[in-house]
Amino acid sequence: MAPPPAEPKSATASACWCRSQLICAEPADIAGIVSTTPPISLDVNGFFDHLIGERGITRADVDSEAARVGVIMDRLVAGRSAGELPFYDLPYDQTAIDGVNELAEDLRERFDTLLVLGIGGSALGTKTVLDAVGRSDDGLRVEVLDNVDPATMSSVLGSIDLARTAVNVISKSGQTAETMSQFLIVRDRLRGELGADAYGSHIIATTDPDSGTLREIADKEGFRTLPVPPGVGGRFSVLSAVGLLPIAAAGIDINELCEGARAMDARTRGRDVWANPAALHATLLHLAATERGRNIHVVMPYCDALLRFGEWYGQLWAESLGKRHDLTGALAEVGQTPVRALGATDQHSQVQLYIEGPHDKVITFIRVARHQPDLTIPPSYQDVDGISYLCGHTLGELLNMEQRATELALAGAGRMTSLIELERVDAGAIGQLFHLFEVQTLVAGGLLGIDPLDQPGVEDGKRLTYAMAGRSGYEELVSEVNAQLAKKREDLVLG
Ligand code: PA5
Repeated sequence: MAPPPAEPKSATASACWCRSQLICAEPADIAGIVSTTPPISLDVNGFFDHLIGERGITRADVDSEAARVGVIMDRLVAGRSAGELPFYDLPYDQTAIDGVNELAEDLRERFDTLLVLGIGGSALGTKTVLDAVGRSDDGLRVEVLDNVDPATMSSVLGSIDLARTAVNVISKSGQTAETMSQFLIVRDRLRGELGADAYGSHIIATTDPDSGTLREIADKEGFRTLPVPPGVGGRFSVLSAVGLLPIAAAGIDINELCEGARAMDARTRGRDVWANPAALHATLLHLAATERGRNIHVVMPYCDALLRFGEWYGQLWAESLGKRHDLTGALAEVGQTPVRALGATDQHSQVQLYIEGPHDKVITFIRVARHQPDLTIPPSYQDVDGISYLCGHTLGELLNMEQRATELALAGAGRMTSLIELERVDAGAIGQLFHLFEVQTLVAGGLLGIDPLDQPGVEDGKRLTYAMAGRSGYEELVSEVNAQLAKKREDLVLG
């Protein structure tokens, strides 16, 4: 049996079979930013006609967007200098990072568990890092309640000792129904168990520094507070106190996380679309959606620890790009649908559809060069043809071969893919991923001509919830809700 072709160990090594200009993996020490984490690479060969045939994107297609991308990058740089995009500066705010580390250390001394209350951008980044990196031996157990499902909440509350639990309630607006409901329940229990004088010392509120309901409550009750920096939206806030406190409390190195983001910042500032991984990926995804009908973007890590990253990215891409109106106010109704998948599991579920179904998807693989720990498949049943080929390989190798096989099968079927490779899963790599996708989202928003920083559709849903729950000031919406419900026909409700 011929041995399998050796897998390239890194993007640089893979340049022999890929066109090297389409793999962005510069060292991370440009612009004076030095990162101890190896740079992640982005290989976009799988979008192009030379790999997938006539349905692929051409270099000329990208060149035709290059000037527009340059202008978008100029606008981002100018907006950043003017303080309009403060998320960019979060990983550089060493005072905030040190302050969070100090508080986290204090929490680790006093408590066993940190219970995080929040939803959407106030929870997903934390969950992503916790799942990817895992808490360290001296880190707190961190539970993130990002929903109001009573079964989950009861189960979590039943599994923790409130006397040994700190509670971090996180809401930028300070009035999100889900988060504040969680807060009211947890506060009530804490107060009941610890008494009116003691319970407040268990609560940290992360919210707007100046205004909002949670800010008012925190100030009145004397809770410890951390700021959500003004101008930083929920889905761009993971590297503010929103994500940093719970991540640091779990004993994960937030300096390394921010260092990764800074390293990626150095790689994603330039106006040359061919040299800036965020700009190039955004442009290709944009062309895929608008010129080739690929309006679904699947993010498919071949690594269980990165599954949650797809959830974080899903919110970022969907909430930022899914917009009814463009910046001129014209009807646009745009946005590429993000989908999460997991390799190799979904090779036995979704991939059939990706290879043979409609040409409406781009699949971005994320793979890990060095799986740690890894397991070697033992040399049993050497004489059984159907499985002997597995013997001696590690599971990490098998995962990576399966990723490559799926990528090549998709390319053979004319399907678009891209590939992000991490040397290993650590905080620095996750910081790079966060920043890469954040900038990519801003560039994609610029290409669509929409505002990627607002979320008017989400606000509509919030207002209707307020009306149904009886919040004052929303009475007029109640009749709107009732009129809409009255349109439902009973014969279309079965059972
Ligand atoms: O990205 C966003 O802006 C949203 O997903 C918010 O994070 C989410 O709605 C929670 O909002 P808040 O932090 O105000 O409670």
